[in-house]
Amino acid sequence: MKLNDYFQIAWDQYIETTPSAKKINDLLSQRGESVVNDHIAFRTFDNHALCMDRFIEFFKQYDYEVCGDYVFEEKKLDAVHLENKDKACPKIFISQLQNNNFSKKLQRLIKECVESEDFDFNELLISGSKNWHISYDQYQMALEESEYAAWVLAHGIRPNHFTVLVNELSSFSGLGELNSFLKENDFEMNTSGGEIKGNPAVYLEQSSTMADSIHVDFDGETHQVVSCYYEFAKRYPIKEDILFQGFVTSSADRIFESTNKVIDK
Ligand code: NI
Repeated sequence: MKLNDYFQIAWDQYIETTPSAKKINDLLSQRGESVVNDHIAFRTFDNHALCMDRFIEFFKQYDYEVCGDYVFEEKKLDAVHLENKDKACPKIFISQLQNNNFSKKLQRLIKECVESEDFDFNELLISGSKNWHISYDQYQMALEESEYAAWVLAHGIRPNHFTVLVNELSSFSGLGELNSFLKENDFEMNTSGGEIKGNPAVYLEQSSTMADSIHVDFDGETHQVVSCYYEFAKRYPIKEDILFQGFVTSSADRIFESTNKVIDK
């Protein structure tokens, strides 16, 4: 499979769970913009079958390499970002739950789900799904401890979000103007830690919509659960003509909260 074919599949999987992203891209296209993707983010567990090393192996075959690693202490996550030799390709951001820092009950649930059947990781990633069954009660149990764990258990291995590179938009002066445009068009923005996370001094500003929600099947019962959000990033040069390509943990910490939403059932 060619890398661009995978990106198309990943985008289709993403807009299935995040219809807002497609609507926003359509609105931007109507203004004459063409959207450039800064990064695709994935969430996973620290489990040999699904851990971030499996993602790294998958993307290495397409000339990606690890260019940064991060720790989110409060959320108990580790993360890496990958860059391609071809700078036109989006970066890949992969985070993984520090399973061992959660209750034995949650660890058992994750292990039972993830190890329920043998599978080929690459096939699972390309299918953008999960090969385990989880009941709604189990989902709720996971949600009490970790919104992140519940998200992966409900949605499986699929893109968590894509990200508009604001530098490449020509009709907005910056992130503030883009956020106003989105709000005028009735999109709800994540305001945790302020609408814009980061600043030019850390070379990165980010904002995001609040996550959409979709219906997910839990062992034959359908329930509405939080899905994904769309992110927007403006990068600043670290030296002449070279934009910062990394991530800022204090900002990403707040962006993760775009999926902290209470669903009216
Ligand atoms: Ni992101």
